[in-house]
Amino acid sequence: MEYRKLGNTGLKVSELCLGTMTFLWTSDESTSFAVLDAFADAGGNFLDTADIYSRWAPNNPGGTAEHVIGKWLRQSSRPREQFIVATKGRGAMGDGPNDQGASRVHLIQAVEASLRRLHTDYIDLYQIHWPDHDTPLEETLRALDDLVSAGKIRYIGASNYPAWQVMKALCISERRNFVRFESIQPHYNVMHRDEFERELMALCVDQRLGVIPYSPLAGGFLSGKYRAGQPPPAGSRGENNARIRAYAESARGQNTLSKLEEIGRARGKSILQTALAWLLSNPVITAPIIGANTVEQLNESLGAVGYQLSAAEVQALNEVSAAVNA
Ligand SMILES: NC(=O)c1ccc[n+]([C@@H]2O[C@H](COP(=O)([O-])OP(=O)(O)OC[C@H]3O[C@@H](n4cnc5c(N)ncnc54)[C@H](OP(=O)(O)O)[C@@H]3O)[C@@H](O)[C@H]2O)c1
Repeated sequence: MEYRKLGNTGLKVSELCLGTMTFLWTSDESTSFAVLDAFADAGGNFLDTADIYSRWAPNNPGGTAEHVIGKWLRQSSRPREQFIVATKGRGAMGDGPNDQGASRVHLIQAVEASLRRLHTDYIDLYQIHWPDHDTPLEETLRALDDLVSAGKIRYIGASNYPAWQVMKALCISERRNFVRFESIQPHYNVMHRDEFERELMALCVDQRLGVIPYSPLAGGFLSGKYRAGQPPPAGSRGENNARIRAYAESARGQNTLSKLEEIGRARGKSILQTALAWLLSNPVITAPIIGANTVEQLNESLGAVGYQLSAAEVQALNEVSAAVNA
């Protein structure tokens, strides 16, 4: 596994980050532990989670993915310091008015609760999950700056922020001498490009921000297991996900899969690995956040490590996956 600098920081993270949204949602605890073990055995050091994972699942109060990571870290023979643990706050963890948001009150509560669940003294990267238009950015950044000074979090990042808001936050941090967002976590894959490429990508290059894209396989669509006119495989995420089914029924989706397959065949790689390579070949990307329900799924993604596409291959994929109205 290659280790890459997270943006302009000195922090080194593995080129694949392990997402943990599936933990106790679509994979049980022992499978989640096996996935964590296999990822660590392969040299992965970068874990992504969030306090709200997976509050949407039946009988899940949220915080359960953090619990699983905390339990695994505690019982693992590997030292805590070996891992870069990224989590997020801002989502609703209760029904009260201050049980969500990016206010000082909620963020301090949320960080303390994540620390308890993760069984750790510090969080390496703390990300605001999505913008909170009710809270001034200045308040959010000052609270995060205080949490860094208190040693509870080490770096900060933003997820799902539009470019103008990231830039505004960077200006506030500079003007007030607060820590700054060092990374962004956008929704980005070869089927979902416009949101990141329109403005954020250039901003990340210019401001030297780390980029850790989520859903790099478009929720599993880019594994190639969904086909037009066929029902989603039993137990797959596509059974309850309209976006995945729409991709499968679209000409753009099918043409993109065909091109990924063609390029992969010539390189001895799978559709999924070629989709990850499309991200890994872009120098602005630090580490795609992969999701896996089984060790077998994880292993297929790990097969993308070190797989770089040529400029011509990237161009061919860019052309076939371009949005119709782009
Ligand atoms: N910041 C945010 O707002 C946000 C949002 C979403 C996710 N995230 C982060 O990003 C991580 C990854 O997101 P994601 O789960 O959407 O990523 P993804 O890589 O696009 O999708 C992962 C899913 O694809 C399927 N899959 C993976 N490998 C496969 C294989 N070899 N063959 C067939 N199917 C395979 C599995 O689903 P099935 O087996 O169920 O089909 C798996 O759960 C999350 O864990 C989380 O940490 C962040």
